[in-house]
Amino acid sequence: MQGNSGGGFFSGVIAVIVLGAVVGAIVLFTGVYNMAASIPHTAIGLWVVETGKVKSIQAHAKGITAPDFTDKLVADGAPNYGINCSMCHGPSAGTDGAPFIKGMYPEPPNMSTLAVKYSPSELFWIAKNGLKMTGMPAVGSHVSDDQLWTIVAYLEKNKKADDSAPAK
Ligand code: HEC
Repeated sequence: MQGNSGGGFFSGVIAVIVLGAVVGAIVLFTGVYNMAASIPHTAIGLWVVETGKVKSIQAHAKGITAPDFTDKLVADGAPNYGINCSMCHGPSAGTDGAPFIKGMYPEPPNMSTLAVKYSPSELFWIAKNGLKMTGMPAVGSHVSDDQLWTIVAYLEKNKKADDSAPAK
């Protein structure tokens, strides 16, 4: 590469890419990464899955328009939430769901925080489609869009004005 610094730069970039692929393949195929639900992700593993999740939700919820959250919608949402979500996200703010949620990883967050972190369109998309490899089911497989909107309305009205959750 003498006399050709551009070529040297590109060889360096290619070397880094090859090294990254080799390290990635070693991590992937040796089984060294622990998939146990009883052990938290490494910091980098957590960053990758959390960032990917939030970006994916934001991208896919674009173009979904929420209806007006009337009192009727909110009232209908309470029992719909109870049947479809409370066993994992807790029957009401500050209380827990079923005992097994303690063994889930990620553990389902409490209902009072759900609408703090996400917009109504994003909540609807998550509830309808679920989240891969988390235990969050695609509730749209057995609950209609109209019913899902009642749940979103209920969550919006009952969110805790919580400043600990990151604002978007
Ligand atoms: C079988 C248990 C289960 C049921 C039932 C369930 N969820 Fe979840 N849900 C989860 C788990 C586990 C997560 C954690 C996913 C994560 O942190 O990446 C989750 C995550 C979520 C999130 C995103 C939270 C975040 O911080 O990223 C929302 C919003 C949500 N659920 C809404 C609902 C709604 C609404 C219902 C009912 C229509 C519902 N869930 C039913 C288990 C469940």
